[in-house]
Amino acid sequence: MDNMFNKVTLREMVLKGKRVLLRVDFNVPLNSNLQITNDKRIRETLPTINYLIERQAKIIIISHLGRPDGKVMPEFSLKPVAEYLRVALKKPILLANDVAGPETYKYVRSMKEGDIVMMENLRFDPRETMNDPEFAKELAGVADLYCNDAFGTMHREHTSISKIAEFLPSCIGFLVEKELQILGHAITDPKRPFVVIIGGAKIKDKITLISRMIDVADVVLIGGAMAYTFLRAQGYNMGRSIVEKDKVQLARLLLEKAKTQGTKIVLPTDHIATGEFNFAAESATVSTKKFPRTAMGMDIGPATIRAFKHYISKASTVLWNGPLGVAEFQKFAKGTNQIAEALADAKAFTIVGGGDSAKVIEQLNLQDKINHVSTGGGAMLKLLEGTELPGLKNISNK
Ligand code: 3PG
Repeated sequence: MDNMFNKVTLREMVLKGKRVLLRVDFNVPLNSNLQITNDKRIRETLPTINYLIERQAKIIIISHLGRPDGKVMPEFSLKPVAEYLRVALKKPILLANDVAGPETYKYVRSMKEGDIVMMENLRFDPRETMNDPEFAKELAGVADLYCNDAFGTMHREHTSISKIAEFLPSCIGFLVEKELQILGHAITDPKRPFVVIIGGAKIKDKITLISRMIDVADVVLIGGAMAYTFLRAQGYNMGRSIVEKDKVQLARLLLEKAKTQGTKIVLPTDHIATGEFNFAAESATVSTKKFPRTAMGMDIGPATIRAFKHYISKASTVLWNGPLGVAEFQKFAKGTNQIAEALADAKAFTIVGGGDSAKVIEQLNLQDKINHVSTGGGAMLKLLEGTELPGLKNISNK
């Protein structure tokens, strides 16, 4: 596991005049006019691209966008991203209309040092998601080196992520290096007290994460619907709240594990509850101890927010993943938003990851007040869980 954090980077490679196949994660959200609505993932790869330009490499960019299922679909074209890069880098970017096909080869043959060529969406080829050695060879065939800077996709066993490194000298880019350093440090040697906040709807999606965080953190704050299953495991009646009945025993085991290891698990003591699952439903604050039989928990309550804030204010490192209530309904987003604000004000080193939590940080415009907002959702979870990321498997250690 520790080897995961010591991979060869671009700094160790001779780059001048070399054709570098750069795998990035430009899977960015687009609106109905195909305009990019969040450019974070592109912005965060600019240091790698600029370094390659400065070192006079020939840069061939590859990425997926969305899930076109192996078919060429114009709405999943990388055109908006190529346009973004032209403006951001003030350089011409040649976007081939194929993936390692004749147009890619034509453009690559005419490249000069510092030039950038992009291939079309990798997932226009069905072999991308199959970890296919033949497709990997075709992709590798256009380049001298391979660099993986696609942190958001590092957990996928896909051709351009985990296979190409078998055929070319390979390294990671600076975005992946930064993510590994920060997340790796948090789980191997965090500055303590280390407080982890885990939210989200289902325990089943986060069992390994919770179990692992019990191993490494000092305090684990649990919110979101999954808290109801933990509270049920402690014997509370949670009314009509979403309780995963088949996970109550597991929740009990996790609570016992925490107790044995001396890790504090903090569960909500109060809730914003409604009679129905509705964005405008009338709500009331209720306590865990006197939870009405007909009520349904939608958000953490004021006393819980205060308690969570207290732990955040005492922490030296805070890691947050997952919303603490039904945050897609404005009325039940208070707990999530207040915890986001508390992180922004904290003196601790703060890390946020996972699509939903990262989105909240952007919506509240707090990104500059958080030390690290990860570009990975699934990839970050896998890394924190201690799983070897497929994207790192074939890249040598330093
Ligand atoms: C992501 O956004 O999580 C990555 O780009 C991976 O995309 P996927 O979930 O479609 O594989």
